[in-house]
Amino acid sequence: MSDNQNKFHEYDGIIEHDNPLPTWWLWSFLLTIIFSFLYFIHYSLGGGGLTLTEELKVAMAELEKTKASAATSSPMETEDSLLAAFSKDGVVNSGAAQFTSKCASCHGQELQGLIGPNLTDKYWLHGKATRMDIVKVIRDGVPEKGMPPWGPVMKKDEIYAVAAFILSKKGSNPQGGKEPQGEAIE
Ligand code: HEC
Repeated sequence: MSDNQNKFHEYDGIIEHDNPLPTWWLWSFLLTIIFSFLYFIHYSLGGGGLTLTEELKVAMAELEKTKASAATSSPMETEDSLLAAFSKDGVVNSGAAQFTSKCASCHGQELQGLIGPNLTDKYWLHGKATRMDIVKVIRDGVPEKGMPPWGPVMKKDEIYAVAAFILSKKGSNPQGGKEPQGEAIE
């Protein structure tokens, strides 16, 4: 009984045992405590660890930087810069191929107009048929009128090419041309 008194406490028949915790359990417990100190030092005492808010700030700053450089890396388009791009060898031909595969279903193989307007006449719905106007309407589309935006689908050079092709067909007066739509541009 005296031996047992060192190991147990007994009160009113309820025995309190003193079983040692398993070593592996003690170690994992100690490690979590050690980890919490390291964590606190790293994140809260200026050890250089970033909080989530700070990480977000850094990521947003990077995004802004990429956006800014994307905007400046494609130099601003002008009528002249487009003229140069449209006049390169083979551009009109590759534009013709783009047109057949992506545009002819709505504008007609000869650009005479079907669902979409005739692209060879002097009547234009959007802008004054400058190179800039045509590139813009192809890129942005007129979604509410059934002209899809091609900017997300076609590369810049493909849009230039198909615009160059359209301008090359100006006044070609194809058979079955659709009735004029928009304003006459002389
Ligand atoms: C799903 C049918 C459809 C497809 C495909 C389509 N278009 Fe159109 N497009 C239209 C419609 C409809 C309009 C007229 C929009 C309006 O009424 O404002 C239009 C308008 C245009 C205009 C402006 C015409 C004007 O009078 O201002 C251009 C330029 C044009 N499309 C080029 C293209 C090119 C280039 C492609 C292929 C890359 C293409 N479209 C593919 C339906 C289409």
